[in-house]
Amino acid sequence: APRVFSGVQPTGNLHLGNYLGAIRKFVALQESQDCIYCVVDLHSITAQLVHEDLKGQIRSITAAFLAAGIDPKRHIVFNQSRVSGHAELAWIFNCVARIGWMNRMTQFKEKAGKDRENASLGLLAYPSLMAADILLYRATHVPVGDDQKQHLELTRDIAIKFNNDFSGRIAAAGLGTEIAMGDETVNGYFPITEPMIEGPATRVMSLKDGSKKMSKSDPSDLSRINLTDDADQIARKIRKAKTDPDALPSETAGLAGRAEADNLVGIYAALAETRKADVLTEFGGRQFSEFKPALAELAVEKLAPINAEMRRLIDDPGHIDAVLKDGGERAGAIAERTMRDVKEIVGFLQ
Ligand code: TYM
Repeated sequence: APRVFSGVQPTGNLHLGNYLGAIRKFVALQESQDCIYCVVDLHSITAQLVHEDLKGQIRSITAAFLAAGIDPKRHIVFNQSRVSGHAELAWIFNCVARIGWMNRMTQFKEKAGKDRENASLGLLAYPSLMAADILLYRATHVPVGDDQKQHLELTRDIAIKFNNDFSGRIAAAGLGTEIAMGDETVNGYFPITEPMIEGPATRVMSLKDGSKKMSKSDPSDLSRINLTDDADQIARKIRKAKTDPDALPSETAGLAGRAEADNLVGIYAALAETRKADVLTEFGGRQFSEFKPALAELAVEKLAPINAEMRRLIDDPGHIDAVLKDGGERAGAIAERTMRDVKEIVGFLQ
């Protein structure tokens, strides 16, 4: 059966890129799919070990999920460290994956910087934990922004290698199922996950530099719109966003080579739930002095209710903690079944 899984790290402020690239899609998918959404706290200690207020950060991401409209009763919302299967399966995947695969990850290279020898071993193994997150629930679909594409390819590689290396034992244990792999089906235990990276906002760029993605770690707060920004802050950041002196083109081809314009049009399209071409039909030929106030108004209209609901929820940590506990129990029950199968397949005594 299809199942959706995705995760968000509890580090730094959530921004418009996280919302448009991921969280808003989580909300849309819950209408038709069985979904598990996870605050990945184990991942958050890979780059920085000691956090001032990790509990508060975990609650704040959870509040954003709920405020955006995720229903924790019909679906599962929990924090990763509650379910020990994530770390257990990641260990097995550390033995499936090759060091070379990890060394090739662009996100590792970026985050480790020049002093790679001094990066944590966890940062190198990060994608293996991510594969475990997804495959612990045998999820088939993973909505993410474009920056996670390479990690999801690695998740597929791990599933394929596990299914191949253990094919005999999977069959002997009667645990194999038909698994879709492109147009073919193969027999295996883990599904070959489909990334869901679609729409006009899979890579929201910095408001100050159209060549850099909008990021929690950018030192300039003007580079991003945070989900906690109020209406004045949102309007100010859009007003100050970098643009070029030309009018908006009337067709998407005219956005080539204009990264900042392309980004703002993409943000507008995503917020309005339409396509860039439709935005340009409306705004083509007009100046940014007209487009920016329209964008600000739209952004405030869409984000203000989420912002208000997040604040309300954060004032009631008891409720958030109860949601995570309940979600953790339900996730744990699924995870336990997978770990029992995996231990059987690998050949551990249990
Ligand atoms: P994280 O916490 O960095 O980001 C959460 C989600 O937001 C998306 N995103 C963006 N989308 C569009 N434009 C941007 N500028 C932008 N910045 C971030 C990310 O692509 C992501 O979907 N490794 C993951 C967390 C993770 C995970 C998983 C995801 C751990 N396990 C299993 C899916 C499945 C991460 O660090 O996301």
